[in-house]
Amino acid sequence: MSVVISPSILAGNFLNLQQSLDIINSSEAEWVHVDVMDGVFVPNISFGFPILKAVSAYCTKFIDVHLMIEQPNRYFSMLKETGAQGLSIHFEGNYHLHRDLAEIQRLGMKAGLALNPQTSLDAVKELLPSIDYLLLMSVNPGFGGQQFIEDTVNKVAQASAIRESLGLNFTIQVDGGVNLDNCVRLKSAGADNLVAGSAVFKSTNPQETIAKLKSSI
Ligand code: DX5
Ligand code: ZN
Repeated sequence: MSVVISPSILAGNFLNLQQSLDIINSSEAEWVHVDVMDGVFVPNISFGFPILKAVSAYCTKFIDVHLMIEQPNRYFSMLKETGAQGLSIHFEGNYHLHRDLAEIQRLGMKAGLALNPQTSLDAVKELLPSIDYLLLMSVNPGFGGQQFIEDTVNKVAQASAIRESLGLNFTIQVDGGVNLDNCVRLKSAGADNLVAGSAVFKSTNPQETIAKLKSSI
């Protein structure tokens, strides 16, 4: 199965988001990545419900919402109502992840567990049977356009080995600084889903970049 591409609209055109969504809608990307930041969990603020609602109504792809906010469980139902199809929540700072992940699934969404670069896979082993996808951050969350942390390739390989040894089938998503150079290494290490913001929207032909991220081996 080929890798799923999830373009991040954080790098899109905020004066004409429709144009960015048209690019995604007419591309080979299967998902769209929506980064929600509250200025507390991460040192940046992005956008909230009205934007998410507009994106969900217009975008034909799977709506993948990455929550970089404090106490994300306050908003699961509202996020479902605004059209989210998958929610990823961070291991860091959340105390009742087992319950939260189950609640996301109970509401009919896919449950993603996100790990900052600092967090070891050993810390989350018990949660892996409860997730649909594991989001490995390959930058420190909060901003687009950062440099890819190369060690993430090893972490992907480690996650893939753990998945196999436990007989699980969650998918592995990588987020931050993903580009045409590192996508090949990430895919061979076992990544199934690549988030890409700058690499897609700052390129001269975003649709072609999406196709290349997907097909290059
Ligand atoms: C960073 C976000 C990423 C970001 C990726 O906190 O979680 O999803 O949009 O952007 P690039 O691909 O530019 O690093
Ligand atoms: Zn993200």
